[in-house]
Formats: sequence, C-alpha cells, structure tokens
Amino acid sequence: MLSESVQAKLNEQIQKEAFASNAYLAMASWAEGENLPNIAQYFYNSAEEERQHMLKIYKYVNANGGHARIENKLDKPKEKFKNVLDAFETVYDLECSVGRAINELASWCLQNGEHATYFFLQSFVLEQQEAERKVTELLSIIKRIGTEPQNLFYLDKTFKKINEQS
Ligand SMILES: [Fe+2]
Ligand SMILES: [Fe+2]
Repeated sequence: MLSESVQAKLNEQIQKEAFASNAYLAMASWAEGENLPNIAQYFYNSAEEERQHMLKIYKYVNANGGHARIENKLDKPKEKFKNVLDAFETVYDLECSVGRAINELASWCLQNGEHATYFFLQSFVLEQQEAERKVTELLSIIKRIGTEPQNLFYLDKTFKKINEQS
C-alpha cells in the first residue's frame, strides 16, 4: 500500500508529465503552422512519450492501493516560438525541470523509507538523463544547420531521419 504522502507526490508527478505532454502538443501545432511536418511529428512523438510516462505512474499508483488523479490545474503551455531553436530551448528547459522533479521525488522517497517507489522511479531517472542528452544533441544539430528560412527545408528533412531513429 502506498502511503498518503507518497501518493500525493506521485500524483504531482502525474500532473507534470501531463503538462509536458500538452507542452509538446502545443509545439506540434506551432510546427505545423510553420510548415515543418517532420519537426511537428517529433513533437507529436514526444507528447505521446510523456503521456506514456504519465500512464506508467498512474497505473503504479492504482495498482498499489492508491488513487491516481487528474487535477484541474495544468498550466497553459507556451504556444508561440521565435524559431526552431527557441522551440528546442523550451524543450530543454522542460526536460530539465521534469528531470529535477523526478530527482527530488526519488530523494524524498529515499529519505522517507519509500524504497519500492524509489526503485520504481529509477527508470525515470535514467530516462530523463537520456532525454537531456538527446535534446542537447538536437540543439547542436539545429545550431549547425541554422534556422534561417533557407535552412528550414533541410532542417525539417533532418528530423525525418531523427524520427526514424528513435
Ligand atoms: Fe516524462
Ligand atoms: Fe521527457
């Protein structure tokens, strides 16, 4: 059985993953509006990934005698970006903030003797590290190609390859 306090913490993390999913959806709309279909697809895939993270925690809470909740308090995500670099800098900030939240949650679990949940969170800890590494790599690709109008066709095509690889 999950304690009330660990349940409350996990429910907070559920909201953060839901927010991340929505933030990526907002980016997908922006990219579609900019005629960048492969970059839009990257954001759709990321939105789905975040939804899967949310569901994994959701099901963990319910499977262990808790009650997973959808709270009515999600922030509105950013929906306008200066260019592709600006959008991916937002992605970087988003992933870092989710990563910090996961780390804080894992530390809290350890300090409060919640070892099973601490163990459950380990795949999230590693996945966040991987997400930050990947976004850093994407930022360097974007900077190398450039985000001027004449670069956008090639930049978007590059994301077709990136999407196929992940
Ligand atoms: Fe996530
Ligand atoms: Fe993520």
